[in-house]
Order: sequence, then structure tokens, then C-alpha cells
Amino acid sequence: MAIEIAKLRSETPGVAHRIHLNNAGAGLMPQPVLDAMVGHLTREAEIGGYEAAGEAAPQLDGVYDSVARLLGADRDEIALAENATVAWQLAFYAIAFQPGDRILTARAEYAANYVAFLQVAKRTGAVIEIVPDDGDGVLDPEALERMIDGRVKLIAITWVPTNGGLRNPAAAVGRIARRHGVTYLLDACQAVGQMPTRVDELGCDVLAATGRKFLRGPRGTGFLYVRRELMRSLEPPMLDHFAAPWVAPDRYELRPDARRFETWENNYAARLGLGRAVDYALEVGLDVIEARCRDLSARLRDGLRAVSGVRVYDLGRDPAAIVTFSVENRGADGVKAKLALSGINVSVSNPSSTLLDAEARKLPSLVRASPHYYNTEDEIDHLVSVMSTLR
Ligand SMILES: Cc1ncc(COP(=O)(O)O)c(C=O)c1O
Repeated sequence: MAIEIAKLRSETPGVAHRIHLNNAGAGLMPQPVLDAMVGHLTREAEIGGYEAAGEAAPQLDGVYDSVARLLGADRDEIALAENATVAWQLAFYAIAFQPGDRILTARAEYAANYVAFLQVAKRTGAVIEIVPDDGDGVLDPEALERMIDGRVKLIAITWVPTNGGLRNPAAAVGRIARRHGVTYLLDACQAVGQMPTRVDELGCDVLAATGRKFLRGPRGTGFLYVRRELMRSLEPPMLDHFAAPWVAPDRYELRPDARRFETWENNYAARLGLGRAVDYALEVGLDVIEARCRDLSARLRDGLRAVSGVRVYDLGRDPAAIVTFSVENRGADGVKAKLALSGINVSVSNPSSTLLDAEARKLPSLVRASPHYYNTEDEIDHLVSVMSTLR
């Protein structure tokens, strides 16, 4: 299926105002997402919040089906959350670690996850170990397999790290985890919406992701997948009467589905926006989205590499649509500000967001440009041409 850029852009109000190359920060919401949210907020104001939720009950229920379709999962394996971090934490902190348990992770692990590893290591005596990379900076599955023994309690990696284009071999890791019966927690935050994300192919037990990035949903949305068999043995670290109805004065009963990781009160407009964003991505097609992201980011990398004084830091043989670079004698914040003056949105990725990788590679603060399928070749070229005038 060919991608209809003009149509997709006509459904994206933001492209009239900015060259938006900050999709790894937050993608531009398409109009149907906006309509779903504004429509619901309007109904909340008109008839009341509870009443509007009642009226939209079928659509709200359908959000679980949409996320399940995106992931190739069952709807009872999906929980909705306010962001990926909370989704990830709820599953991670439900795992009962013992002294000496090993947590295997990757060098470019995201700060939020790593801080949680550190806290759990401090509390329980579990240990954190980094799986070595191959020569291209990609997690080495063979090295991972050699590390597995009876003390490995968890493999937890980020598929597409927050910067650097790297795409870790999530499915190869899943095959190893399955073979050895080790629980596998995958952070798919920067992958979802950018590439097909099927839990059966990935072989993960738990997957956490956000709505606002490449999925183009609203801010403050995320979701969690937990494989049914694991879910039934995981009690969330915090519970309320939605996750676990209070059935007798001295007893609660955990919900049988993944919604045991949710709480009672929610932002229903945001949930409807998330559901619409997922449907929209599925309508465009994740295969075509991935191919277009690959083309645009390759064009951007090639363009930037040709600009004198610009250094691209991306890793891997098949990098994702996150392009990170520095400019000689210019700070990343200054470059971002300069690009903003030309109407171009990018972000800055600081070393503390992937500290182990940053220290190993001596990374400075980097400019992060993240194109998406609705961007045009002209927009990419414009960024490159502004960079050529910088020095
Ligand atoms: C790799 C990765 N994981 C997790 C997160 C956290 O997502 P959220 O901000 O939705 O909690 C981010 C956010 O940038 C990320 O880049």
C-alpha cells in the first residue's frame, strides 16, 4: 500500500505551523484524534463527566480492542496507563526479587527504568548486569544467551532507545527468554507506532509503551501488555478497589485481567484519543510507516553527515527514525533554538537519559531529530540546509 502523504498531511493540523521533527518527543496528533478528545470533553461539559463516560462506554471499551489489535494480544492482557513509565513500573515492581537474582539489561537502557533497577537492587539484593553489544553497538544475543543461568530473574531491555537510532534485536532476545523460561520485559516506547509491534513475534511477557510519540496519540497516555499466564501470578505493587474489588471486610479479589494494573479514575478524553491514534496507525499500516520512517531518517542522516562540523552518533546497521547529532562549537540547546527560529521542532537528548551509553561513548548533549511518515523530503532537506548555514 502506498502512503498518501498529501492526505495524511491534510489530516494533521500541526504541519501548517511547524516542521515537526520531534516525533520521539511527541508526534503531531491527527485531526481524528483531536476530534475524539475534544468531542468527549465537550460532552463532559454538556452533560457531566460520569454521564459522558456512560454515553461513550462502547468506544472506551473498544480502546482495549484497538491496543490488543496493535500488539496482536488479547484484550484481557491490556491495561491502560497515564504514561509508559507507570505502565512499566507497575509490572516491574510486581516481580518478587530475592538477593542474588540477576536483572539483565542493555547499555542504552532508559533512565527511568535503570533508576527502578537501582532501587530494587538496593532493596532486595538483586544485581543488575549489562549485556555486551556487538561491534555496532547493538545488544549481542549470543552474549545474552551465554549469561543466562538459574539466577536470571528478568531480562528487561529497551527496543529503540531514547536517542541514537539504535534498534535492539527485541525478537531475538524474546526467543532466548522463551527458550530459558526467563521473564522478558520490553520497553517499546519509541518503537510503537513506528514499526510493527507484535508480541507473539517479540516473545515478550510484558511490554510497556506510550501514546504520545510515534503513535501520535495525546500526552498522558500509555499502555501495558502482560502475557496472560504471567499476569495471573503478578500482584501489582499498589491496588485500589477497581484493580481488586473489596469483597469482604477482610478481603479483596484481584481482577482476573490486566486491568488489575489500573485504578478507578481516568482521563477518558485522553483514552479515546489514544484509541483513535492506534486505529489511525493501523489504518495507515505499520509496515508502510516503518518503510517511510526508514527512508526519511536515512535521508536525514546522509544529509547531516555531509555538513561540515556535524557529527551523527547513531548506532546499528538498521537504525530507527531517531537521529542524534552534535555541531562543532555549538551546544545542542543553541542548535535547537536556532532551528526553532526556522520553524523546525527538534529536541535535546542529555547524557543522563542513557547514562551508561553516554559514559561509554563520551556523549555530549545531542540534538535529536525524529521524523515520521507524514514529514516530507523537503522538510528533511530544509533542516539539513539550515544546519549548513550554521557555521
Ligand atoms: C525509551 C523510553 N522509555 C520510556 C520512556 C518513558 O515514556 P513516558 O514519558 O510515556 O513515561 C521514554 C520517554 O522518552 C523513552 O524514550
